Formats: sequence, C-alpha cells, structure tokens
Amino acid sequence: MRLLTGATGHAGSIVLREFVRQQIPVRVLVRDPGKAAWIRDLPTVEVVHGDMLVPESLTDAFDDVDRVLMISSPRDNMVQTQCRFIDAAQSAGVGHIVKFGGKESGTTFDPNAFRGTRWHLEIEKYLENSGVAWTHLRPSQFMQFYLPGTLTGVDPHRQALVMPISESRLSPVDITDIAQVAVAMMQAEGIEGKAYDLTGPEALTMTEITDRISEATGRTFRYESVTPERKRALHAAEGLPPEVLDLLDEIYRGRLASPDSRVDLGAHREFGVEPTTFAEFARRHAADFTVGNGNGTRR
Ligand SMILES: NC(=O)c1ccc[n+]([C@@H]2O[C@H](COP(=O)([O-])OP(=O)(O)OC[C@H]3O[C@@H](n4cnc5c(N)ncnc54)[C@H](OP(=O)(O)O)[C@@H]3O)[C@@H](O)[C@H]2O)c1
Repeated sequence: MRLLTGATGHAGSIVLREFVRQQIPVRVLVRDPGKAAWIRDLPTVEVVHGDMLVPESLTDAFDDVDRVLMISSPRDNMVQTQCRFIDAAQSAGVGHIVKFGGKESGTTFDPNAFRGTRWHLEIEKYLENSGVAWTHLRPSQFMQFYLPGTLTGVDPHRQALVMPISESRLSPVDITDIAQVAVAMMQAEGIEGKAYDLTGPEALTMTEITDRISEATGRTFRYESVTPERKRALHAAEGLPPEVLDLLDEIYRGRLASPDSRVDLGAHREFGVEPTTFAEFARRHAADFTVGNGNGTRR
C-alpha cells in the first residue's frame, strides 16, 4: 500500500487527484475529518485519520504501507512535524519515504539564507540518517501561486502582479507536472537514495509571466515592480502575521539577489512527463485569473 500525507493542501490535493486519475490505490492521512469530505467520495482512496506530530495516532496509517509520499505545511513546525513522522514510520517498518521538499531555481540563490529551504535540507538529512530508504523531490516555485487568492498571486481587480523582485527570472513548475512525477515515483523501482530537482520549462521575468496571462485571458495584466519594503507593507495590510511577513521577505530578497534561474527537466524526462509551459497553464486557468469567476478574493 502507498500512503500520502498533506492531501488536503495545495500540492497534495493535486497529487491525490493524479493517483485517482491513474486509478492507483492510495491511502491518505488526514488530521481534520472536516476537510476530507471530498476525499471520501473518491474511488481507490482510503482515508485514515491521524496527526503527523502524534506518533500513536499513526498506527492505522502505516499498516501494510511500503512507501510514503510525505508532504506537510511550509510552517515553522515543519521540521518537527516531518522528523516525528519519519521516526514513527521507521518504527512501523515503512520501507521507503519520498520527501516532497522544495528548491529555489535561482542559480545563485543561497539556500542558507531562506528558512524554508533550510528546513527542507534539515529534514532531508534527518531522513537520510533514519535507516528508511529515501528519495527527495524538490520542486521549484509552483505556477499555481500566481493565481488570484494565493499569497503571491495576481490581483484580478487591478489586473496586476505586484512583486519586489525587479527583473529576476524564475522557473515555476505546474503542480500537475509535479503530481505526475510524484505518482510515478511512488511506483518506480531503483530511485532510493536519489534527489530530483524539478522546475518548469522556462526561466521567466514577471513581465513575461503577466504577458502570458494577458494572452490567455484577452485582458491586459501588468507587472508592478515595488521595493521589498512596499511589498511587506502590502502583505501586512492583508493581515499576515509577522512570521509569514519575514518568510516572504526572505524569499523575495533571495530572488532579487539571484536574478537568473535554472531550468531542470531531468525528472520530467526520467518519468515521461511532458513539461507544462506557463502559457499553457495560463490558458487552462484563464477563467481563474479574472474576476467574476469566484476567484476575485485574495486569501
Ligand atoms: N509554495 C511553493 O511554491 C512551493 C514550491 C516548492 C515546494 N513547496 C513545498 O511544498 C510543500 C507543500 O506545500 P503546500 O502549499 O501544498 O502546503 P499546504 O497547502 O499548507 O498543505 C499542507 C498539508 O499538510 C497537512 N499537514 C500539515 N501538518 C500536518 C500534521 N501535523 N498532520 C497531518 N497533516 C498535516 C495539511 O493538513 P491540514 O489541511 O489539516 O492543514 C495539508 O494537507 C511544503 O513543504 C512547501 O515547502 C512549496
């Protein structure tokens, strides 16, 4: 049996839908039953309740499981959450954990300067020393984070993408590509002890991103370049807590300091996944990028 955690989140929900699309049986660990109503109706999915931070709640989740895809929230308790989960998996005799991490695509991005990347590296090391076979999946920025309603998405009312990263390029990747790679990894032989970076197929400036959204929607979106201080003030006005402001500030400053990005399609090629371009992503989500389609509020 395969086990997936984080299925109620941004990335995990799309990974789960890929399991279902391919009719591959999977068990999902859910901590909040209220968020799992839509999951219970899916065929080929078994739902178990438990909390990654509470080892004694995980007995049913690990029963007869040979491989886990481990995803949790990019919050300040991510290291504790995933390390406790690794310990519990090891005790239960789980053979292999695929860790869903993250890696900035910037060519000179300093991993130590950004706490999200530091956390993932710390967990990767912990997993490598746990005695459980491991594989690291390290996607770059999600394309979905340009959609309205996300912390870093476009403002559909003003048809603007407000960012403090000047002309830096990023190589965002569609979560549906990551999901296809992740599901293939959950079936593949011979991937133990390997790390896979995963980006989208192009390194794009924010102007190129908004041009593609404009082409897809038939409306003019523009990039509004602001200072990190201004962006922080805008996020603060949205009510974000100080720790999230600090986290975002680090990411933006890192991207500003590392203006060029890599493109790495090695995992796409190895697992036979066609890379989605940002133009294709924008066309698929054209309705989501415009107001009046239920996505006009930012969260
Ligand atoms: N944002 C990006 O562009 C990007 C790029 C590359 C990699 N990443 C990485 O991708 C990962 C997933 O991000 P995301 O945006 O999908 O996160 P998310 O939307 O916050 O989802 C996290 C999931 O983990 C679950 N979870 C958290 N703590 C748990 C616990 N103690 N027990 C059981 N389940 C728990 C959450 O359950 P609830 O629904 O109950 O909260 C949710 O299902 C993160 O590690 C992030 O660093 C992000």
